[in-house]
Amino acid sequence: MFYKKSIPLLIKEAQESGEGTLKRTLGSYHLVALGIGAIIGAGLFSLTGIAAADNAGPAVILSFIVAAIGCGFAGLCYAEFASMIPVAGSAYTYSYATMGEFVAWVIGWDLVLEYALGASTVAVSWSQYFAQFLEELGVHIPAQFLHGPWEGGMINLPAIFITCLLSLLLIKGTQDSSFVNNILVIVKVAVVLIFIALGWSFINPANHSPFIPENIGETALKQGKIGFFDFFTGPEFGHFGLSGVLRGAGVVFFAFIGFDAVSTAAQEAKNPQKGMPIGIIGSLVICTLLYVLFSYVLTGLENYTAFKGDAKPVATAFAQTGYTFLNMALMIAILAGYTSVILVMLLGQSRVFYTMSKDGLLPKFFSDLSKNQTPWKTNVLFMIFGSIFSGLVPISDLGHMVSIGTLFAFTLVCIGVLILRKKEPQLERPFKTPWVPFVPIMGIIICVTMMAGLPKESWERLAIWMIIGIVIYFAYSKSHSLIRNAVQKDVKPE
Ligand code: ALA
Repeated sequence: MFYKKSIPLLIKEAQESGEGTLKRTLGSYHLVALGIGAIIGAGLFSLTGIAAADNAGPAVILSFIVAAIGCGFAGLCYAEFASMIPVAGSAYTYSYATMGEFVAWVIGWDLVLEYALGASTVAVSWSQYFAQFLEELGVHIPAQFLHGPWEGGMINLPAIFITCLLSLLLIKGTQDSSFVNNILVIVKVAVVLIFIALGWSFINPANHSPFIPENIGETALKQGKIGFFDFFTGPEFGHFGLSGVLRGAGVVFFAFIGFDAVSTAAQEAKNPQKGMPIGIIGSLVICTLLYVLFSYVLTGLENYTAFKGDAKPVATAFAQTGYTFLNMALMIAILAGYTSVILVMLLGQSRVFYTMSKDGLLPKFFSDLSKNQTPWKTNVLFMIFGSIFSGLVPISDLGHMVSIGTLFAFTLVCIGVLILRKKEPQLERPFKTPWVPFVPIMGIIICVTMMAGLPKESWERLAIWMIIGIVIYFAYSKSHSLIRNAVQKDVKPE
């Protein structure tokens, strides 16, 4: 269970090219676009308003900053690994090199939650905007075809449609997908910038005051009327005040998920040593700046209380400007934004399974490449898997699973950096995480704290998912592992 994949072997694999390998087509610009493609989506356009109304008020801006700091720590750790081991597979591969095969399997299995379920979550959110878009054009989709059975409907057809469409695009080729992604990214960054620029002059300063709405529990705590434990476990925790800013950070964390998807494409980067850190850190920095400005304008246009239960806060806030004729254009751009998130998440998922299959932990057909050198069978599998989830399961359940799975992966990557610095300090690291061990340790603390804030059911579902994964590991993967078999036969793996 603790066989490790040696770093020189990984680097050799990364350098292989030609038949049966992924193509190196992505430059630094494409990688940053890939990151932004995966990052800006439902988290920004749907959750900002909800986090402001329920948790942080106008201080949702601070929530974004707190979440960005947490992701920044993890992002720096990802950048070190991705530049050092530029192989498709991301956190799965890094764990294989540092913590052994079993942990690698666990994390690879866990990444399905982040990427495949992430794509499904955003597909469900996409379907809601899409239905409204069609409504404005006079086309009505009956409610039973917009919701799964747990929400009183039958099946979410638009969510299945977008999942299938994008899977087919991925099968066509990474370069085509990257081209489409670049266009979608330009459109969605443009809409964020336009929203900020047009909305700025309509900001009503009164909406930003009080900046951090009062939390009655925190006031009682300060006055010594209740103890910290009572406050922490009581109903007021997380509803405004500083605790609200923190809880809000957990909610808007979803908006940052995806920067790590850049690292899954390491094997398709032209110059991964340079491109990976630029892609990961660059996309994170750009998105943080946009998020802070966006949330400032959003909460300035409309009072935060107006966003309660509102999954389309952009439209609500924009109604305060004189530009409501732009509503349709805004909606198209938001749909484009969501589309690129789904696309990159599906891409990341197929690359993780591709790598696991190359290592023998999954059957070989997962790494069979089409003539366009894409792992098309994996794409088809996740087209079906993603369609089932997005077609049937409610969005909030999906969203929490994505967050918990992602935070778990981030935590293991931070631990991996600590382990490898200790065990193999001599390895060449084109990008070095600064201030080790401070940065990885802070990454671990923040990720685990955010995980602790998620509902109990998410933990239970995570446990069930992991148990299924562990059963598969012992039933199949352990005996088929190429590394294990090579080491046991005392033959150097090719
Ligand atoms: N960060 C992505 C989004 O907000 C998952 O849609």
